[in-house]
Amino acid sequence: MNTLQIGNVTIEKTAALAPMASVTDHAYRVGCKRFGAAYLVGEMVSAKGITFGDKKSAALLTVTPEETPMAVQLFGTEPLVIAKAAEAAAKFSPQIIDLNMGCPVPKVAGNGSGAALMRTPQLAEELVRAAVDAVDIPITVKIRKGWDAQSVNAVEFAKRMENAGAAAITVHGRTRAQMYAPKADWDIIRQVKEAVQIPVIGNGDVDSPQAAAAMYEQTGCDLVMIGRGSYGRPWLFLQVAAYLKDGTLLPDPPAEERMACMLRHIRILCDDKGETVGMREARRHAAWYFKGERGAAALRNRCAALTAYAELQRLAEDFLRQQG
Ligand SMILES: Cc1cc2nc3c(=O)[nH]c(=O)nc-3n(C[C@H](O)[C@H](O)[C@H](O)COP(=O)(O)O)c2cc1C
Repeated sequence: MNTLQIGNVTIEKTAALAPMASVTDHAYRVGCKRFGAAYLVGEMVSAKGITFGDKKSAALLTVTPEETPMAVQLFGTEPLVIAKAAEAAAKFSPQIIDLNMGCPVPKVAGNGSGAALMRTPQLAEELVRAAVDAVDIPITVKIRKGWDAQSVNAVEFAKRMENAGAAAITVHGRTRAQMYAPKADWDIIRQVKEAVQIPVIGNGDVDSPQAAAAMYEQTGCDLVMIGRGSYGRPWLFLQVAAYLKDGTLLPDPPAEERMACMLRHIRILCDDKGETVGMREARRHAAWYFKGERGAAALRNRCAALTAYAELQRLAEDFLRQQG
């Protein structure tokens, strides 16, 4: 089996799940893991929040044994705070700690963290050094192409992070200014891969087995990372692995299995967060599972009104009856 190594962590060279705040929680991650996601990265967590002993931060850092290998992701701007947060995060037993240097949202980048760190590489280096010194698990960094079209610096920046001790770099091929559209630039991933010795994880717009294979081929990256392409399709990881192995294009699972998957996902979500919060969050997940189905608009409307798990069970039953 093809693998890559991040520090002492061995990862299958298929596809990883990207960190997505308010999406890739425990319930989402275990769903992807069941279908063979090679590596999981949790939602970003505020380093400051962790050091304040915030309960929500602790929930975000929790790693269950079935989620191995997994990274927790921190964001912050102060080396001392990052060091303390990394120490605290390591107690939750992730295999890796990732530092967020790509988040574009004003709440994060506006405070100098996330993607804004690409404009302060000296500080970014200090953060990596502080985290590396604080814990004995690998520290990795997730970056963008640059801040904007006038300041594309992923190659230079990645080299500095490597020198500071980062054990791997994930590159999302868009600038901060581009947020999540237009199409990701995979060439910048190739350029970073050619410039550093540590593993490079490629990210941006992989939404099919063929796209995953194309990213490996075009960039030479060590691992492909999938974000939005996995919405409502945790089985995509299995399809990518099969295609990379011998070109097999597995069909989506049959409707019964897709519904069982959705129900299992939302059951775990409700168990983790309680039915009220769980079902509110389930609305968009459920809509993603129904995307592209016949009668999608009506299904979406029912998803948007969900308040109880039993309603989702009925929705799945009605859907399967229509299919039959
Ligand atoms: C809703 C959402 C939340 C995200 N949250 C994070 C995050 O917490 N940390 C991070 O590094 N990137 C975050 N990202 C960026 C993704 O990890 C990924 O880089 C981006 O979506 C591009 O990959 P994709 O085209 O496969 O979705 C987020 C993206 C989305 C859409």
